[in-house]
Amino acid sequence: MDVRSFRQALGQFPTGVCVVTSTIGAEKLGVTISSFNSLSLNPPLILFSIDRRAASLSQWAQAEGYAINVLSENQADLSSRFSKPLSNKWEGIACETIVGHGIVLPGAAAVFHCAPWAAHDGGDHLLFIGRVTSFQSFWDRRPLVFSKGRYAALESERHNEASWPLAMHY
Ligand SMILES: Cc1cc2nc3c(=O)[nH]c(=O)nc-3n(C[C@H](O)[C@H](O)[C@H](O)COP(=O)(O)O)c2cc1C
Repeated sequence: MDVRSFRQALGQFPTGVCVVTSTIGAEKLGVTISSFNSLSLNPPLILFSIDRRAASLSQWAQAEGYAINVLSENQADLSSRFSKPLSNKWEGIACETIVGHGIVLPGAAAVFHCAPWAAHDGGDHLLFIGRVTSFQSFWDRRPLVFSKGRYAALESERHNEASWPLAMHY
């Protein structure tokens, strides 16, 4: 299979962008992910995957809890910052709020606080499943979108309607 065309084809599926954060002792972890997704309502489960080559992979396997920060449309700079293997990722970031082990990034569109539920082999990635213990959602903030390898913003405001249009969570 041609990997480049496979990646391009996958890029036809737009996603949001999240930064998953955790603390291990005094160390702060933060990684940009687009692999976040909802998994189960009852029990409340989410999933994401981390590349086995990621510098922080071994720490994620040890994390006792984490926060999924769903980035807002004006937070592409945070996405870029947390998508590089930097030692100073957290420099200048106000992150006073730690819930469980996860760090809340101010301005996120939603935050899911999770306890580890399971980790599975996912080929060249490790698949993490987390149980949501609490969450915050800021309906007035619009999410950052990632599509075809680029950041984008939602055009339509129709998603701001008060009631959920579908009878399911997808
Ligand atoms: C929009 C975007 C989405 C990404 N999604 C993922 C992902 O789902 N899983 C992953 O392992 N890396 C993903 N990455 C790459 C990681 O953010 C990057 O490898 C990062 O350096 C990992 O952190 P570390 O080097 O501190 O381990 C993504 C990068 C970007 C820009």
